[in-house]
Amino acid sequence: MSKQVPFFEYPRLWSDDREEFLSIIDNVSSSGGFILQKSVSDFELELANYADSNYAVGVGNATDGMEIFLEAIGIKSGDEVIISSHTMLATASAVKFAGGKPVPVDIGYDNLISIKAIEDAITSRTVGIMPTQLNGRVCNMDAILAIAKKHSLFVVEDAAQALGARYKGQHAGTFGLASAISFFPAKVLGCLGDAGGVLVNDEDLYHKIYQIHDHGRDVDGEIMRWGRNSRLDNIQAAILSYKLKNYDNVIARRREVARMYQERLGMLEELQLPPEPSEDSDNFDVYQNYELTADMRDKLKIYLSKKNIGTLIQWGGKAVHQFTQLGFDQVLPDTERFFKRCIMLPLNVFISDSDVDYICESVVEFYRK
Ligand SMILES: Cc1ncc(COP(=O)(O)O)c(C=O)c1O
Repeated sequence: MSKQVPFFEYPRLWSDDREEFLSIIDNVSSSGGFILQKSVSDFELELANYADSNYAVGVGNATDGMEIFLEAIGIKSGDEVIISSHTMLATASAVKFAGGKPVPVDIGYDNLISIKAIEDAITSRTVGIMPTQLNGRVCNMDAILAIAKKHSLFVVEDAAQALGARYKGQHAGTFGLASAISFFPAKVLGCLGDAGGVLVNDEDLYHKIYQIHDHGRDVDGEIMRWGRNSRLDNIQAAILSYKLKNYDNVIARRREVARMYQERLGMLEELQLPPEPSEDSDNFDVYQNYELTADMRDKLKIYLSKKNIGTLIQWGGKAVHQFTQLGFDQVLPDTERFFKRCIMLPLNVFISDSDVDYICESVVEFYRK
C-alpha cells in the first residue's frame, strides 16, 4: 500500500497514551471528584506557572473563555472590539455574545492582524483589540500595546493556538488583560474533548472570570453575580496535567518539523513559507499549524490528496469578514488575496521524518514535473 499521511490522526491521541489515560480516568472517577475538584485546581496552577500568568481558570472551551473575560471586563452593547479577519469565527462570536460588535480587519505582511489596519479601524465606539496569536505565533505586541495605550483601549488575546509561544521572551496570553487557550484535541496541548483555559493577571478580574464560569459563585460557593456554567471537567484537567509535563518536547518536535519543511521547500519560489524557527528572533513559535501560500493552491491540494497526503485550508477557506450571511460587509484585500492561496501541510507529533520527506518530495514533484 502506498504511504498515507493524514492531516491529523485523531485516534492516535488516544492510542499513543492509552494505558496512562485509562489509569488517569480510573483514578479521577474512583475518587468521585468529577467537577471543580483537585485535578482542576492543580491544572490551573500548573497552567498559570507554565505560561507565566498570575492566574488560570479552566473553562469549557476557548470560545467560552473569550466570551467570559469580555463579559468580566464589562463590554456593553455597541462596543467595538477589533479582531483579525484571519481567525476562527469563534473570536468574533465571543465578542458578539458578550454583547459587543466584532470589527474584523485586514492582515499584515506577517499574515497576522495588520497594525495599520487596527489604527484605521478605531472609532469613538472602539473599546478594545483582541489579536489572534495565529498558528502558534505571537503578533507584534509592542505595536499593538502602543496603539491601545494611545487610544485608551484594552488588549485581550485569542491565544487559542499559542500556548508556549513567546514574543521577546514573554508568553502568549500574558500581554493584555486576559486571554483564552484552547485544548481542542488537535491543539498543540490537546485533550480528549472540548476544553479551554483563561489566563489573567489582575486579581479582581480573575475573581469575576472565576465567578462567571461557575454560575456566579466565588471559590467558597457564594453567589456574587450572574454567571453560567463553563467549567473544565476533572478528567480532562488530569489528562492535560499529564500532557503538560511533556509539552516542551512536543513544541521542540513541532519546531523541528517546521525546520525540515523550510530546508526542503524553501527553494520553491511558488511557495511562501511561514517564518522558520530561529533562536535569535523576537518570536518563539509553537507551530500549531504550518500554513503557507502557494501558486496553483487548489491543484496542489488535489495532487497531494492523490498521494494520500492530507492538507487543510483554514476556517473552511473563508476569513471572518467573508461570512456575509452574518452581516459583514467589508472588502479586506490582503486577507482575500491570502485566502485564495493559503493551505496547511500536516504538522504534528504523529508525523515521522519519513512522512515529512514524502510530503516534501511530493510538493517538489508537483511544481517540477
Ligand atoms: C484561533 C482560534 N480561536 C478560537 C478557537 C476556539 O477554540 P475552542 O474550540 O476551544 O472554543 C480556536 C479553535 O479552533 C482557534 O483556533
